[in-house]
Amino acid sequence: MDSKVLAKKWWHNAVVYQIYPRSFCDANNDGIGDIAGIISKLDYLQQLGINIIWLSPVYKSPMDDNGYDISDYQDIAAEFGTLAEMENLIAEAKQRDIQIVMDLVVNHTSDEHPWFVEAKKSKDNPYRDYYIWRQPQADGSAPNDFHSYFGGSGWEFDETTGEYYFHQFSKRQPDLNWENPKVQTEVHNMMNWWLDKGIGGFRMDVIDLIGKEIDQKVMANGARLHPLLQEMNKATFGHRDALTVGEAWSATPEIAKLYSDPARNELSMVFQFEHITIGWHPQHGKWEPQAFDLIKLKKVFTKWQTELADNGWNSLFWDNHDLPRAVSKYGDTGEFRVESAKMLATALHFLKGTPYVYQGEEIGMTNVRFDSIDDYQDIESLNLYYERTAAGVPHEKMMEGIYANGRDNARTPMQWNNEINAGFSIAKPWLKVNPNYTEINVQAALNEPDSVFFHYQKLIKLRKEQPIMTYGQYIPLLEDHPDVFAYLRAQDDDRIVVINNFSAKKITLSLPAEVQYIKGQSLISNYQSHHNLADEITLQPYESFAVAYKQPMA
Ligand code: NOJ
Repeated sequence: MDSKVLAKKWWHNAVVYQIYPRSFCDANNDGIGDIAGIISKLDYLQQLGINIIWLSPVYKSPMDDNGYDISDYQDIAAEFGTLAEMENLIAEAKQRDIQIVMDLVVNHTSDEHPWFVEAKKSKDNPYRDYYIWRQPQADGSAPNDFHSYFGGSGWEFDETTGEYYFHQFSKRQPDLNWENPKVQTEVHNMMNWWLDKGIGGFRMDVIDLIGKEIDQKVMANGARLHPLLQEMNKATFGHRDALTVGEAWSATPEIAKLYSDPARNELSMVFQFEHITIGWHPQHGKWEPQAFDLIKLKKVFTKWQTELADNGWNSLFWDNHDLPRAVSKYGDTGEFRVESAKMLATALHFLKGTPYVYQGEEIGMTNVRFDSIDDYQDIESLNLYYERTAAGVPHEKMMEGIYANGRDNARTPMQWNNEINAGFSIAKPWLKVNPNYTEINVQAALNEPDSVFFHYQKLIKLRKEQPIMTYGQYIPLLEDHPDVFAYLRAQDDDRIVVINNFSAKKITLSLPAEVQYIKGQSLISNYQSHHNLADEITLQPYESFAVAYKQPMA
């Protein structure tokens, strides 16, 4: 039952906490979260037990896409603070054994980046080739029908030089030309500059797109992608023991192994999204969410757990700044909010891989429903709302899509207490606070020993104490059960069985033969604890637990 021995890495048993700085904590009371706010909450994060912060972008930016449009990679946006404060954050975090992982957004820059400002000046400007330019078609229209993920064409006409430039996201996020070796060198230098400041690694934004081959119409997984990453590894983080995680919407397990097989010297791991996109409409995507199907979800988890068992590494996550809140998507926001938030945490944290916790997840924050589209701020939701309603999609239908999957669900300010604006800021926040902050907030969670927060704290601690959680083999159980996600972890004669009821129903479950009549030790639970199992068990709504036991050696 031993899985192949992986060379151990510090991030294998680490837990990452993602901060979306704009929404985390506003120390200077301008309505926007900032670095000083983050520093003020490091003790809280230390109490939670996490070891790494993935910091969404804090670089200088006109904020067309909340910082994923960078105009200076080596400076900090004034609304977030200063470079000195950023250095202070790195140092303060280190004192608490927390590493800072920066967001590396190098598929594109802002249109205000000096490289693009130069590139636009003339066709023979030395920076022209940092971006992707094409001639108009004979009738003046765009070179082809590429669409931007944020709506409209992926090409924008530039009057001064009479050519189109390419952008996969907003027109204020022109794509960099990674075929130009100068772009590569500039990015490597910048990465080393940050690594020299003591950061712990990078989360790499839409990294699967940098090898694009425009004229072949290949966007993701282009031929140069992996060579580019190997060159990046060698020139920057490879000899520094950093954590690197690439955002790779297009990854299959085979592709994920290319990125994360240690022998290939690319990245530590990738974020793949198959467990997310199975909930989307095959054609209309996230705006037409599909009914939740646990059997499908389990198949996806099992596939990834199994395929990456020996030559790769999984990232484990339910949500991030682009996704809805886990408890709203897979759990219950009413009577069983606390139970279901704990169940989701247990189901994920006992899997093999590195878990990521998105700010607010640790207190069971939920999606939000604003009545008016004017209360939304996210460029994607707004662009797509106007594009689709103009094309005839009814307002109500589009709002349902936004309520289910819009990115502002994750971006409402962090709920610290039940005071004004949830304790996020005394000024009007840039995005409205979720009205449920009076009930769901950090202060309330810290005052309640049985809260979602302390459940996360326990899971994070368990991962440090139980090597089997990090390295044990994953074995699925009850694969065809429509409501229960159950699995084993196995290492030598150590076993952990994890059982999670994903429904609001009471369930009488016949246990699989492997775990009948085991005598074990309760690791965690969200109702009463379990030690010894019989052949059958009654699960309460969203009940979940993990039991450690010894398997007699054959
Ligand atoms: C993925 C990021 O997570 C998202 O927030 C951003 O809008 C796009 N990449 C473009 O950078």
